[in-house]
Amino acid sequence: MADTRSDDYKPLPKDFLEKDWKEGFGIFYKGGGESGGKFLKFLDYHPSDYSHLYKVLREKDHHEFYVHEEELYSYYRNCLVKNLKLGILQESPPTLEVFQRIYPIAIRIINDYLEFETSERILTALEEIPNLLMEAQAREPICLSKIFAITRQDSRVATHCVNVGYYCLALGIELKMDPKELRETFIGGLFADLGKKFIPSAILLKEKALDADETQEVHKHPSFGRKLLKDMRGFSDIVLDMAREHHENFDGSGYPHQLKGNRISYHGRICKIMDVFNALTCDRPFRQRMTPFQALTLMKDNIPDSFDPQLLTTFFNAIALK
Ligand SMILES: [Fe+2]
Repeated sequence: MADTRSDDYKPLPKDFLEKDWKEGFGIFYKGGGESGGKFLKFLDYHPSDYSHLYKVLREKDHHEFYVHEEELYSYYRNCLVKNLKLGILQESPPTLEVFQRIYPIAIRIINDYLEFETSERILTALEEIPNLLMEAQAREPICLSKIFAITRQDSRVATHCVNVGYYCLALGIELKMDPKELRETFIGGLFADLGKKFIPSAILLKEKALDADETQEVHKHPSFGRKLLKDMRGFSDIVLDMAREHHENFDGSGYPHQLKGNRISYHGRICKIMDVFNALTCDRPFRQRMTPFQALTLMKDNIPDSFDPQLLTTFFNAIALK
């Protein structure tokens, strides 16, 4: 089998094979000379045959292998998300458990999008996730402190994305948003940092303070993220605003546009609070995580001008009173 549409083939990271594929897929390599650089099928992989495949790939360690993006997409949508949805619909678990079950799968899909050379199509496998969360919280509302208890506090960008999405949703519940707005606020939080895919990982993972050029590079990610989401089409202004404005400070000292006060959208101001809260309560290469109380205290006492004061008070009460 040969194909000339090279954009459809994505490099296959070895650790990807260690994931729990339930269906087989084709593994390809790039032909040389006579094939004119076409992608040729190396073998059909089936999960029951993993040990054989592992041995073959080790022998061919100098080769780079590829997978067709259609099969990657099918795996996320038809295996991971479909099984998740079926389980939730059949068992109707408590709201907190629904959030718990969705959490690692959302992280995995976003992480693979950020880490692998996949296109944004992979993200569309997440389409059903907001509905599952909305249905669960409509049955039995969930509060921020309970959500905090199920989130991880590691330093991965994908973890940050899902945490911010969950926290924005929780704050939206406190703010009595209607279901449509709540859904958009969750998606906006979840996708606000996707622009980091276009920032070199050497900068994102650097353990020392960034120099001026590196800082300038990081400051591009809100604009990159908004453009990515806009190009994908179908996302609301709420989602686009949250990507663009989640680093704008209420006093106008943020980035990338130095917007001030109410010139920052309402949802952008919500995302700003949850982004900082998650950054402070998660491990970072250069410092340890804070407790929620330490993070809240710092936000309220040391950098209050960064945030919408009313929203910060709502958030503070949501954490402190429950
Ligand atoms: Fe960000």
